[in-house]
Amino acid sequence: MSNLAMNDFEVEAPPMPSDEGPSAVMKPVPRITIHAFCEHPETGSAIQRAGEDRRLSKAHLTVHMGGVALAVEQYQTSATPNLIMVETRAMGSELFAQLGALAEVCDAGTKVIVIGHLNDVSVYREMIRQGVNEYLVAPLNPMLIIEAVSRLYGDPDAPPIGRSIAFMGAKGGTGSSTVAHNIGWCISSGMNEDVIITDLDLPFGTAGLDFNQDPAQGVADALTSPERLDDVLLDRLLVKCTDRLSIFGAPAVLDRDFELDPEACESVLEIVRAGVPCVIIDLPHIWAPWTRQVMVAADEIVITATPDLASLRNTKNLVDLIKQARPNDRLPHLVMNQVGVPKRPEIPVKDFAEAVGLDPALVLPFNPGLFGTAANNGQMIEELDAKSKAAEGFRFLSQQICGREAVVEKPKSSFSFFKKKSRKG
Ligand SMILES: Nc1ncnc2c1ncn2[C@@H]1O[C@H](COP(=O)(O)OP(=O)(O)OP(=O)(O)O)[C@@H](O)[C@H]1O
Ligand SMILES: [Mg+2]
Repeated sequence: MSNLAMNDFEVEAPPMPSDEGPSAVMKPVPRITIHAFCEHPETGSAIQRAGEDRRLSKAHLTVHMGGVALAVEQYQTSATPNLIMVETRAMGSELFAQLGALAEVCDAGTKVIVIGHLNDVSVYREMIRQGVNEYLVAPLNPMLIIEAVSRLYGDPDAPPIGRSIAFMGAKGGTGSSTVAHNIGWCISSGMNEDVIITDLDLPFGTAGLDFNQDPAQGVADALTSPERLDDVLLDRLLVKCTDRLSIFGAPAVLDRDFELDPEACESVLEIVRAGVPCVIIDLPHIWAPWTRQVMVAADEIVITATPDLASLRNTKNLVDLIKQARPNDRLPHLVMNQVGVPKRPEIPVKDFAEAVGLDPALVLPFNPGLFGTAANNGQMIEELDAKSKAAEGFRFLSQQICGREAVVEKPKSSFSFFKKKSRKG
């Protein structure tokens, strides 16, 4: 089966409708990733043109020929994007068998739009019942596609697309920010997901430095007047590091007092989460109503600790608090960092894990050469030395956090179709 990327489409597409009615109220689609698998070049062309529309300009769209079969083949060994569009000419049981095979390889949280050639309400109803998010009948024009995608992501009652991951150090200087930034990098580059790193260490944050970017007011402006923040203002406040990674940066100045309000934090983070699939929250090591609330409200928590007594006591306290405050969530991920400082007496990782009741998801050696050079250059570890143990560790942890296996080992779902699965898997 050919896997033909369709960026140079020659096919004459149907004209865009002149009726501006529905488009006037359509919100821009957030920074999601969309893969389309078509059977007809005309469908591919219509989708390609939809992707060029202003309302889809933040999304990353790729269009392939090959239909459902190619999608199933491809996702055996790679993670699924936020949205898959598949065109099929199949009917009846063959159609549902194809979609069943696709559901088997779909990660939790992925939405599916089916493009078919049957204008039959019973087929439509059955697909929606089985968990397909939308069924469109070919031939399509770009506006129909834009409307369908916009409906899926523009519903104010729909849960936000973004997963938030809060990073907290067990004590100051454990390397929590370093871990946060590297994980953000790995998710954006290795998993092709758009990421915003939100630096909530307003006076001292290092996200800008670590990515070699000029300091920006960013998050401070948003937190002082959260009611003004919307997706347009958010775009202006973000600093773009790569095509998929942006920083919501801290000003890192001391001429102002930064007293943060839990509600302001919550509303700002909600808006960030509405616009991007992955939000990294870099928390400073302070204990205040807002840090507690932001940590407890996050989808995933990563605690970074060093192998010493103060870290052990604080990690234990944090884990106990998190277990109590979030009895139905996954336990936090523990990163043991800076392990093996020469001549320093350390608590063995095994004893540390036993005492806090949590196995570390990742143990990183003390490597001042690598980490120091990365920090001074404003680079991530993977950019500096992709083969290092630390880079491998960050890639591994990013997969653990996202609940995705890298390749091959993808767990097959026992569900027959899409909607029964939740984002948290
Ligand atoms: N595994 C490691 N080996 C050597 N140095 C490291 C390692 N991890 C982090 N560092 C270094 O430790 C220093 C502190 O890191 P970082 O700022 O990420 O910690 P933090 O926990 O966020 O600190 P803060 O409490 O100030 O927020 C940085 O200079 C970083 O380069
Ligand atoms: Mg920090």
